Amino acid sequence: MMPAMSQSPQDASDSPGSSVTEDGMTAAQAVDRIEAAAHPRPHDRRLHARGAVYDARFVPTGQIAEWTTAACLTAESAAVIRFSNGSGNFAADDRARGVRGMAVKFLDGDGSSDDARAVMDLVAANFRVFSSHNPEGFIDLVEALGMAATEGGFADRAKGKLAAAGKFATVLAQHPESRGALKSFAGQQAPAGFATTRYDGLHAFVLVDESGVRRPFRYRLVPQLGEVEIDPAYAETLAPDFLIGDLDSRLTTGPVTFTVVYQLAEPNDPTHDPSQAWPEHRPLIPAGHLHVTARSPREDHWQQQVFDPTRLAPGVEASDDKMLAFRRHAYSVSAERRLAP
Ligand code: HEM
Repeated sequence: MMPAMSQSPQDASDSPGSSVTEDGMTAAQAVDRIEAAAHPRPHDRRLHARGAVYDARFVPTGQIAEWTTAACLTAESAAVIRFSNGSGNFAADDRARGVRGMAVKFLDGDGSSDDARAVMDLVAANFRVFSSHNPEGFIDLVEALGMAATEGGFADRAKGKLAAAGKFATVLAQHPESRGALKSFAGQQAPAGFATTRYDGLHAFVLVDESGVRRPFRYRLVPQLGEVEIDPAYAETLAPDFLIGDLDSRLTTGPVTFTVVYQLAEPNDPTHDPSQAWPEHRPLIPAGHLHVTARSPREDHWQQQVFDPTRLAPGVEASDDKMLAFRRHAYSVSAERRLAP
């Protein structure tokens, strides 16, 4: 059983899972490379720099209760959600294809004070499988994307695009598992809104019931409004940071709802590798609905916190996926740096 996770970003060294990859990259080195590629501002997240935090309510369906003892999945509770553009560059363009994030904290109590504690986090993004089976593959890709986004005059941008083409070729040769994710990425337009995007947790976790029976699963957050891609002509009329304003204005007419769906694994489905999809016909259990209601009045507080995919309630455990364990350490390094005076 996972020990209870602290709310502090500083104590990842005490947590299970290694902060060094099998190939010897430390979490600090991973964040150094992200910084060099994405140029985050000092007090921003090293990835997913621009985001906004919203209040929400989780209303369970009861359908997951037989699989887990996790009280936060079977009782109604307050939640906060941070929606983000995945780039480490705070000025990243929402009209361009790329990563979008949805990170959820299930709270104890009503969430009306800064003392509210997160009992479990969900951290998800708008793709169906992860690009890489190890952190090195992901960091290589972040570097390639950083080169492709080189700013400056015509010559600088052309040089950046050329360097990116070479780097992408290397990534594909060294990390062939990235091909599927990159192909589907290239075939998509940017999401039209945070409210009309599906976000997947990608890693496997384990539900544990009251008899100790363990069932691996993956989660996804499915928008009730359906999935909508941006119309490229319409995109030209939008501000480069339109996504937050779009969600704010939708919320003036009522809540925006996502269904929290658990996909249950069969015995031979890989749990250690988020770059391998499970068959789509695996059972999909709607665990509950997240109703996003309004911008959080305690936004400054929640912006400082880490949304940590390994913060899990008793009744849910991490799988054998080493990248999942490594993420916690990388997020902790990012938080230490962004919260430093
Ligand atoms: C080795 C793999 C990965 C590394 C090194 C990595 C790195 C990071 C870092 C450094 C941050 C900023 C954390 C902070 O300052 O609080 C971050 C945020 C985030 N990452 Fe990852 N990440 C990885 C994999 C993933 C995967 C697989 C997903 C999707 C399932 C994901 C989704 C997110 C999201 C949504 C956020 C923003 C959370 C928030 O709003 O606070 N990341 N990532």
